[in-house]
Amino acid sequence: MNDAVKVGFLPQPNPGPHDLLVRVRAASVNPVDLAIRSGRLKPILPYKLPLILGSDLSGEVVAVGSAVTRFKPGDEIFARLDKDRIGSFAEYALVSEDVAALKPSNLTHVEAASIPLVGLTAWQALTDLGHVKAGQKVLIQAGAGGVGSVAIQLARSLGAEVATTVSQRNEALVRDLGAQTVIDYRSQQFDELLSEQDFVLDTQGGDVLARSFKVLRRGGTLVTINGAPTSEAVRDYKVAWPVQLGLTALHLKDFRLARQHHVTFKYLFMRPDGQQLGMLGKMLQEGTLRPVIDRVFPLDDVRQALAYSESGRATGKVVIKVP
Ligand SMILES: NC(=O)c1ccc[n+]([C@@H]2O[C@H](COP(=O)([O-])OP(=O)(O)OC[C@H]3O[C@@H](n4cnc5c(N)ncnc54)[C@H](OP(=O)(O)O)[C@@H]3O)[C@@H](O)[C@H]2O)c1
Repeated sequence: MNDAVKVGFLPQPNPGPHDLLVRVRAASVNPVDLAIRSGRLKPILPYKLPLILGSDLSGEVVAVGSAVTRFKPGDEIFARLDKDRIGSFAEYALVSEDVAALKPSNLTHVEAASIPLVGLTAWQALTDLGHVKAGQKVLIQAGAGGVGSVAIQLARSLGAEVATTVSQRNEALVRDLGAQTVIDYRSQQFDELLSEQDFVLDTQGGDVLARSFKVLRRGGTLVTINGAPTSEAVRDYKVAWPVQLGLTALHLKDFRLARQHHVTFKYLFMRPDGQQLGMLGKMLQEGTLRPVIDRVFPLDDVRQALAYSESGRATGKVVIKVP
C-alpha cells in the first residue's frame, strides 16, 4: 500500500483570493493519511490523483490572495488544511485564511505542526459534542496517542477528572500530562475498573467502543472518532445516499447500546477551524498545552513516516520536517 506514495515534483500552487501560500516547514502524520492512501475515505472525500497527502502544517506565509485580511507575507502560521484541499507533505501548500492561526512563538515548526488536527479533534470532542465541565469524570482511550495526549491535557484544563488507557511503557508520560487514573489496557479491563463516567472519548472502535458504553453514568456522552463516521456526522458533505444508508447500518449497534445504557452516542468528524486553533495556540503559548512528539522524519522519508504511524505504536505525534 505504501508503494502508492511517491516523492516527486509538482508545480508550486497559486493562491486564490482567500488563500495563503505557505512555505511548509513541518507537517504531521495522522491516521487519516493512511485512510486516504488506501482509498477508504473515497466515498466521503473523493480526492483526485495525483494527490499530495498531509493534513496539517506549520510554516511561513510567502504570498496572500487579494481578499486575505488576517495574515501577511512573513507571518508564521499553523493550520489543519481544508479537507477537500489537503497537501502539506510538500515544500509549498495553499491554506485558506479561515483555517490558519498564528504559530505560537515559543514552539518550533515541528512542534506546532504536531497540533492542528489532533488538537482540534480533542477540543471539538470534549467541548462541542461532549460539553465537558469542571468536576466531571472523563475517560480518554489511548492517552498516549496523537489525539489522546492532547485530549488529556485539554480535559484537565477544563477541570475534569481524567482516566486514560495506555500500555505500561507510557504510564509516566500520561501522568505527566495530567491523567489521574491510568489503566494498562494490556493487563487490565477498563470497564471492570471504571464506572459513572460523564464522558468517554473513544479512539479505538470495535470492542473498546462497545465496552466504553458500560462505564458511563446514565445521561453521559460517548464520542467516537474511530472508523467510519455516522451519516449525521457527514451531513455537510456530498455523500451519496447509498453510502449514507451504509453508514447508518454500520452504527446501528452503537445507537442500540446507547439506548440500552441511556447515554448519548456521537461520531465526531473533526473540522478545520482557525479560530479554535488560535485558542489552542494561546494555550500552547501559555504552556497549559504541550506537544508530544515521538519521531521526526525528513520529507524524503515520508513513506517511512507513514509506515511508522501505521504501526499504531507511536507515542504522541510523528512529524515530517521539510528542509
Ligand atoms: N474522526 C476524526 O475526525 C478523527 C480525527 C483524528 C483521529 N481520528 C482517529 O482516531 C484514532 C486515533 O488517532 P491518533 O492520531 O491518536 O492515533 P495514533 O497516535 O496513531 O495512536 C497510537 C496510540 O494508540 C495507542 N493504542 C493502540 N491500541 C490501544 C488500545 N487498545 N487502548 C489504548 N491505547 C491504544 C498506542 O499506545 P501503545 O503503543 O502504548 O499501545 C499508541 O500510543 C485513529 O483511528 C484516527 O483515524 C479520527
